[in-house]
Amino acid sequence: MEELLKQIAAYKEEIASTVVNTVDSLEAYRIKFLGTKGIVKNLFGEMRNVPNEKKKEFGQILNEFKQFAESKYEEAKESTDIGHQSSVNDIDLSLPEDSLPLGARHPISLVKNQIIHIFGRLGFSVAEGPEIEDDWHNFTALNLPENHPARDMQDTFYINQNPDWLLRTHTSSVQARVMEKQKPPIRIICPGRVYRNETISARAHCFFHQTEGLYVDENVSFADLKQTLYFFVQEMFGKDVKVRFRPSYFPFTEPSAEMDINCRICGGVGCNVCKHTGWVEILGSGMVHPKMLENFGIDSNKYTGFAFGMGIERICQLKYRINDLRLYSQNDVRFLKQFVNAV
Ligand code: DAH
Repeated sequence: MEELLKQIAAYKEEIASTVVNTVDSLEAYRIKFLGTKGIVKNLFGEMRNVPNEKKKEFGQILNEFKQFAESKYEEAKESTDIGHQSSVNDIDLSLPEDSLPLGARHPISLVKNQIIHIFGRLGFSVAEGPEIEDDWHNFTALNLPENHPARDMQDTFYINQNPDWLLRTHTSSVQARVMEKQKPPIRIICPGRVYRNETISARAHCFFHQTEGLYVDENVSFADLKQTLYFFVQEMFGKDVKVRFRPSYFPFTEPSAEMDINCRICGGVGCNVCKHTGWVEILGSGMVHPKMLENFGIDSNKYTGFAFGMGIERICQLKYRINDLRLYSQNDVRFLKQFVNAV
């Protein structure tokens, strides 16, 4: 009995001087003193050897020792945060989960995918081309020979090492690449990034996105062009959308037209986006110039085609009311987060 009391006193000292400040030391302490094979348990086992008349007194001493050891454990767990990070036994399944924030698709990707989907239903498949282009595919093949004034409309970035190389200024270059390889019928759209040497502002950027469309077959008419594009905007913006075609000029189409839709921002009443006209231009289009078909060995007496090119940022602006082009590339999470549930 005396021996046991001495031991208990020594254990108390040990407990008092033990430093418990990490997950590991807390667990080690628990195992040593409070575990199923721990010191407290062992001491209770000694009860067997204690004479009956002393059992009550010894039992009280043991209980008090046990509480002492436990309170040290609880204290250590409380005073640091370690109890919460600790072992499997301490996982509280009733706590709310630490949910991971959902990522969102970039609005440009959202709109691009919608465009692909809508034209996909009309039988258009996706074609791609390089962003670093040569003069032929970006200009000359599209009926824009050297010194053609229309080249000035597109502030081109040229590559220093080779003046024949440039960053494509429009996705029309992919038209050239497709016609080079494929014979009619051709029915493709080409979404992608394009570059122009423009000063960055709310309304202009040095890179942006376009989708080109090209349809070449027998008997393709301007009526087909109109109907296809009308279908597209109805699907994209709703059945109530109004369209108008205006005559225009592009070297690679003849005749050419630009298409406007009634402003989705103000509903046609007039605002900054539509410059108070109620109409917003969304694309350029036209019947593929016969010279272009001939450039690729396609018989322009047999085949006709239409083409169009639209800016994805513009569609996005009208769809999601985004009034500053710079937002698309700033990676501001507050902007991007708004598209978590967008479709
Ligand atoms: N490439 C023109 C641009 O970037 C857009 C365009 C106009 C594309 C008419 C076409 C087209 O395919 O037929 O401004």
